[in-house]
Amino acid sequence: MILPGATLGVMGGGQLGRMFALEALRMGYRVVVFDPDKNSPAGQIAHQHLCAAYDDRSALDEMLQACDAITIEFENLPIDSLVYLESKGQLSPPSSAVRIAQDRLLEKNFFRDHGLATPRFHIIESDADVTAAVAETGLPAIIKTARFGYDGKGQAVCESEEAVREAFAALGGVTCILEQRIALKTEISVVLARSAAGVVTPFPLAENTHTNGILDVTVVPAAVDETLRNTALDLATRLADALAYVGVLAVELFVSEQGEVLLNEIAPRPHNSGHFTQDATITSQFGQQVRMMCDLPAGSPDLRCPVVMLNLLGDLWGDSQPDWAAVLAEPGASLHLYGKAEARAGRKMGHINFLGADTAALKAAALAFKSRLDRRKS
Ligand SMILES: Nc1ncnc2c1ncn2[C@@H]1O[C@H](COP(=O)(O)OP(=O)(O)OP(=O)(O)O)[C@@H](O)[C@H]1O
Ligand SMILES: [Mg+2]
Repeated sequence: MILPGATLGVMGGGQLGRMFALEALRMGYRVVVFDPDKNSPAGQIAHQHLCAAYDDRSALDEMLQACDAITIEFENLPIDSLVYLESKGQLSPPSSAVRIAQDRLLEKNFFRDHGLATPRFHIIESDADVTAAVAETGLPAIIKTARFGYDGKGQAVCESEEAVREAFAALGGVTCILEQRIALKTEISVVLARSAAGVVTPFPLAENTHTNGILDVTVVPAAVDETLRNTALDLATRLADALAYVGVLAVELFVSEQGEVLLNEIAPRPHNSGHFTQDATITSQFGQQVRMMCDLPAGSPDLRCPVVMLNLLGDLWGDSQPDWAAVLAEPGASLHLYGKAEARAGRKMGHINFLGADTAALKAAALAFKSRLDRRKS
């Protein structure tokens, strides 16, 4: 076990790295952040910031030298660097799981090979694949780049075979998958911790609403029945086991109008839809990340009270800051800001957790808040 006083490293210095670092610092660890950006949100608050390219071997050696254990905060790291860190030190999650999460095709094949339900899909590497892909998925379908997509970027909904060809060309002809478009009843996610010994500790199921492909609101407890909850937890657990996962894993799931539960994608790290845990569960997803990387027992994932998480995107900034005084005047609202200097449309700047007695009232309050913050810029 790696105990407080030791040094923990995180590859990546975005908001997830910052929230990991805050939690690790709170627990008495030293924190080193590795990120090429000298103004990164996590680098600002760490004991040490290794400001270097992710494939800089001598900086990776410095990281290994400084840290008792290393984790990651985003998946698009050079896999060679992770394999190197893993060969010389203690890295979680395993690079093998990150490799799969980096590539939708590997990911979807992994789901299929392990008998885990997922929307129908087909690879598109060239124009010649389009007809077969459409035959597999039906229409409408969604084309997605195999790599480097996030927040709905690198995707397009296609209503015809011709539209698929155009979208494939518009995406630059890079390897894509075509995916069956599911008529969604809702979207849910399971964030879980898995220890080296294979013990899985899931957080309560989260119900997520996306706007323009970006997570907008998370509600917990999710309004889903027991059968559906068990199906989701079973899928997520089988997946974590199949990956021989160690660390915090986020599993995004679709619930179709017919009530089927299907895997969408995974993130090998804490997740935006798990931010409710910072205020609403006994242990947060970042606390769990610290515990898993240090080979400590998982903390309790139990919910203290209902919660609604509202994302704050750069769109709310306009010419000035949103009305923080109003947010801070709300006793049940917990504000989290990421320390990003520049607000851009669609950029994740922070979030608010609204805590209270029932989710319907919290959701109404969160949405009212959002429109109030929004109105301010006009
Ligand atoms: N097959 C599908 N059927 C219906 N809706 C979909 C499908 N694929 C994606 N979507 C919608 O688009 C959103 C983003 O898709 P996805 O999770 O694949 O993208 P992403 O760019 O990897 O996003 P992120 O990494 O931010 O989660 C989903 O949460 C869902 O709302
Ligand atoms: Mg997603």
